[in-house]
Amino acid sequence: MASPAKAAPKSSASPKKAAPVAKAAAAPKASANGKSNTGNGAGSNAAVDIQPRLNQQQNAPAPTQRYGTVSQRLPIGLGESTRQESVTMLNQLLADAITQRDMYKKHHWQVVGPTFYQLHLLFDKHYEEQSMLVDAIAERIQILGGVAIAMAHDVAELTSIPRVPRDREEAPVQVSRLLDGHQRILKNCHDYASRADQSGDDGTNDLIVSQLVRTNEMQVWFVAEHVVDSPLIKAE
Ligand SMILES: [Fe+2]
Repeated sequence: MASPAKAAPKSSASPKKAAPVAKAAAAPKASANGKSNTGNGAGSNAAVDIQPRLNQQQNAPAPTQRYGTVSQRLPIGLGESTRQESVTMLNQLLADAITQRDMYKKHHWQVVGPTFYQLHLLFDKHYEEQSMLVDAIAERIQILGGVAIAMAHDVAELTSIPRVPRDREEAPVQVSRLLDGHQRILKNCHDYASRADQSGDDGTNDLIVSQLVRTNEMQVWFVAEHVVDSPLIKAE
């Protein structure tokens, strides 16, 4: 007798849990009929009438973590100086990857000329690939205990890629700007990969070599091959 009695509550567990939800859903209907309505909005359900509290940043306490600091919270076997150096390098690579990514989207939208279709598609493909790199770099920074930059104004201050004008430019100029951006990124990658290797940060070294270097070199190849043939040799 004991086991069926024990089994009974188990089998009826879900209907019993579902019952309060049904009651909660029914409650607003009763209040809508005039008894009491605790909500402030147009609806009759107090739970969905709760107003969001805006402008909380004005009275916020100190940030969870300040930019530039490195937390030791995650036990990944790396010392503070190693983490700090890697985070600094990765934030530089992040700013440049975001800039390169956005330059690809700009050129994807604005490209014009006889190679419009293939460049339009190629630029968007590279944009997507750079987006993957951006996410991988930022998450590596967080794993190391740092704070990843994210917003456009911070990217603009930090990136090593020269400012790209708002103007629409010819395809050869677009290609030239993209190749220059890749070269700046790759030079930093070679330097940073070596430093990460020396400090024992294998994860950062691997990210830079196997993802950043490989992807940027591949993109250089695809973009650079467009400059060998007319009419993409020279801007007019
Ligand atoms: Fe598009």
